[in-house]
Amino acid sequence: MPIAAIIPAAGVGTRMGGDRPKQFARLGGVPILIRTLRKFQASPLVDRMVVPLRSDEMDELGRLLQAEAFKKPVEMVVGGDHRQESVASALRGIDAKQFEWVVVHDAVRPFVDVRLIERVIQEARLNGAAICAIPAMDTIKQIERQHVVATLPRERIVLVQTPQAMRTGLLQRAFQKAEEENFFGTDEAMLVEHLGEEVSVVLGSERNIKITRPSDLPLAEFYLNMEMQEATAQP
Ligand code: C5P
Repeated sequence: MPIAAIIPAAGVGTRMGGDRPKQFARLGGVPILIRTLRKFQASPLVDRMVVPLRSDEMDELGRLLQAEAFKKPVEMVVGGDHRQESVASALRGIDAKQFEWVVVHDAVRPFVDVRLIERVIQEARLNGAAICAIPAMDTIKQIERQHVVATLPRERIVLVQTPQAMRTGLLQRAFQKAEEENFFGTDEAMLVEHLGEEVSVVLGSERNIKITRPSDLPLAEFYLNMEMQEATAQP
């Protein structure tokens, strides 16, 4: 059952400052996007990768991919102004008959590990769609302007990450309905929920951070060191 991975990398990354989008920022000398792609290359379940990105970034990714010489194909497509448009652009090129399952993962979460990718895919296979998330540690309040409207029950709140895996046909239907209704979601699951379909949740990972601001970089360096130590400690 072939599986395609979509790795959206078309963000402009304004919160990161600097002149490069964050997915091209280097971590331990390697662009974050390349670190993320290496994880999906290492996953035995994933057969092909599609990367939506800005057209002026294609030459550079092409060069980086040549240097990596990955075994599995990585295809570039032009992304859109919003993450949802970028994922839609990749999804349009995936044949649901050939790739029954699709897994979507932010380019800027390089600390995903192969086991987490597998857990999400296995859960999706049981139910059609699955995401990963971690429990909320802080109290979460809903506000309007500067006033509290409600305190949400923390024990039932989770913070959602990627990867998110779905049956390809289901995600394509969800994107089609969203497009017809001009519905915007902040993740793929939200579009599946809008379709009225079930989404299961598995435990994500504290390490699976989304590198968004310059202040995320020291933590990212720390996790990178841990990852490298673990790799050398393995028999
Ligand atoms: O915008 P956010 O920080 O949530 O981005 C998450 C991921 O989505 C990043 O890897 C980013 O490059 C990607 N993205 C995209 N197209 C956009 C905006 C974000 O592919 N227009």
